[in-house]
Amino acid sequence: MNRIISIAIDGPAGAGKSSVARAVAERMNIVYLDTGAMYRTVALYMQSKGYTEDAEIAAHAEEVPIDVRFENGEQHMLLDGVDVTDKLRTPEASMLASRVGAIARVREVLVALQQRIARSTPVVMDGRDIGTVVLPDAPVKIFLTASAEVRAERRLKELRAAGRDADPEQVLKEIIERDYNDSHRAASPMRPAEDSVILDTSDMSKQAVIDRILEIAGKVEV
Ligand code: DC
Repeated sequence: MNRIISIAIDGPAGAGKSSVARAVAERMNIVYLDTGAMYRTVALYMQSKGYTEDAEIAAHAEEVPIDVRFENGEQHMLLDGVDVTDKLRTPEASMLASRVGAIARVREVLVALQQRIARSTPVVMDGRDIGTVVLPDAPVKIFLTASAEVRAERRLKELRAAGRDADPEQVLKEIIERDYNDSHRAASPMRPAEDSVILDTSDMSKQAVIDRILEIAGKVEV
């Protein structure tokens, strides 16, 4: 596989997008862009400024001093030059990101940034609207999904591995709430692109998912 292509990976929270996307990008020796981290960064900024109303968030979307850097293949998110990557993966930031992601103006600003990055380098990009809006011409589009229970179980393991205690019922409740928010919003709701391959990973190992995507990418004519 020596051709360079862009790969769009969408799906709900906990479907395994980021670990699979990171591994695929590594194998193909291209950049991995986690777009959720960008929405989380905007959420952090709005929270730090005390902007809570949708209209207020929309009005300030353009001024967010957001920057993305890649160091040794790792994505770092910066706000006003300060690395905030470590602050992004809390349950609170997840819910806030889902809220700011529903605001059309925020999406316009971030989609433009994502498209700029994709124009400058081949990428594996994961999110909710990559195949439908950000990279509609991507030759490989994957929609990863799994049952809410399986996804909550995975998220719980992740949180515990990071040393955070979490209530299983609360984690499942938040997954279901985010699924609902992300797929029912008016602005670019999460849905599989018509030309995407839908992979239900409930009973698949991570390696099997990675191999399947690499196989699909290997067959693509560009
Ligand atoms: O992928 P993630 O769980 O880190 O994303 C956090 C939230 O950001 C998600 O619930 C919805 C929003 N998001 C989005 O609306 N569009 C994207 N492309 C990526 C994330």
